[in-house]
Amino acid sequence: MKILIINGPNLNMLGKREPEIYGSETFEDYFTQLQFKFKDTELSYYQSNIEGELISKLHEANESFNGVVLNGAAYTHTSVGLGDAVASISIPVIEVHISNTFAREEFRHHSYLSKYAKGIIVGFGLKSYDLAIENFLMEQ
Ligand code: DQA
Repeated sequence: MKILIINGPNLNMLGKREPEIYGSETFEDYFTQLQFKFKDTELSYYQSNIEGELISKLHEANESFNGVVLNGAAYTHTSVGLGDAVASISIPVIEVHISNTFAREEFRHHSYLSKYAKGIIVGFGLKSYDLAIENFLMEQ
């Protein structure tokens, strides 16, 4: 099973960015733990702050992965293009968010991705990613 985690804008700042919301762990450290936990799964990680790069990565993933865990970050709430990219690929995409976006500002309540996602995991901190991977493994 090959799973790609894609993180959108500002998620390269995890650990430093608003730690009261997103925690104090870097994604790189967390990713190392994920690889240890899911030893039999081929996990890859990609982050970009650029909308078009995220879109292109989703297209590429369609050829080479079984599923994507996508945190579109702020583009979740703004990008028709990112939503269309999720719709355009045939592998399943699970949308995740670290924070509970529904408990935050109104503009975070809408997602252009959710309609095309296999499912949505929101508000469990970095554990949201674990839960998404576990779902993919359950379906094997
Ligand atoms: C986020 C929630 C988004 O609203 C925000 O713009 C982010 C992170 C989360 O994981 O909680 O950058 O996707």
